[in-house]
Amino acid sequence: TQVYLNGHFINQQDAMVSVMDRGFMFADGAYEVIPAFYQVPFRVRQHLARLDFSLSSIRIENPLKHEEWLRVFDQLLAQNSGEHQSIYLQVTRGVAPDRNHLWPKGLEPTVLVMTTPLQMKLDEDFSHVQGMTAITTEDLRWKRCDIKAIALLPNVLHRQRAEEAGADEAILINEQGQVTEGSSSNVFIVKGNEIATPPKGMPILGGITRDLVIELLQFDVNYQLSERMVSQDELHKADEVWITSSTKEICPVTILDKQPVGDGKVGPVWYETASRYQRYKQ
Ligand code: PDD
Repeated sequence: TQVYLNGHFINQQDAMVSVMDRGFMFADGAYEVIPAFYQVPFRVRQHLARLDFSLSSIRIENPLKHEEWLRVFDQLLAQNSGEHQSIYLQVTRGVAPDRNHLWPKGLEPTVLVMTTPLQMKLDEDFSHVQGMTAITTEDLRWKRCDIKAIALLPNVLHRQRAEEAGADEAILINEQGQVTEGSSSNVFIVKGNEIATPPKGMPILGGITRDLVIELLQFDVNYQLSERMVSQDELHKADEVWITSSTKEICPVTILDKQPVGDGKVGPVWYETASRYQRYKQ
């Protein structure tokens, strides 16, 4: 497999970064995950805009222009196998001369881009899609979850906790007893004709998939789409719960904290939304 590292396309085994890289020492950097269906990056402008936001929030200058990122993505997608791939990119503050919290002036950011094969979840036929299981757990993260920072230790621990409870995802609950998001996804609930998802802001990552789901539903008179806080109690009493991300697309959650969600089956509003999303992708 080929990766892009600091201006060069090289074999993944040969891609090396110094132990003094501030990404390694301090998790000092930002990243993106961009799905590519049929070798075409999906919603790529939105991902690059979010990258700009993340990097400026942590005061790293974006080392590549958008057109340069796009060229790197196209070249890697062409070189690596897989009809569908996910593009991972990360930018760190760079390699420092010593371990010092304070960053030195004039560092060259480290840029890595790689791709991995991606299983498309919502293809022509998704009647086979099975519900996922989730648990709720306390959101232990910092206050700037809107930045797509490479510091993912709490997310990793949340996901591991879900795994050990036999679940696929952890849904995070803040100190006020409200849902923020999943360990690596956003959350939607359906109750009656209302579809609700927590509003964008510092406590959650503004998901690109989340934004698309809202776009697909917001002017439909059959549903009332609300961007509002959702309590843990509402989550447990919802008819449907979904999680969304670039790699998971839109996934129905049918078991939550070992209890069925609604009637325990994949719900009708999910089917409707998933088919709109699937049509949009084509
Ligand atoms: N994660 N919230 C968190 C904390 C995430 O890490 C992600 C994505 C999302 C969904 O965002 P989007 O729809 O833009 O993918 C929400 C990626 C896929 C990851 O870390 O692998």
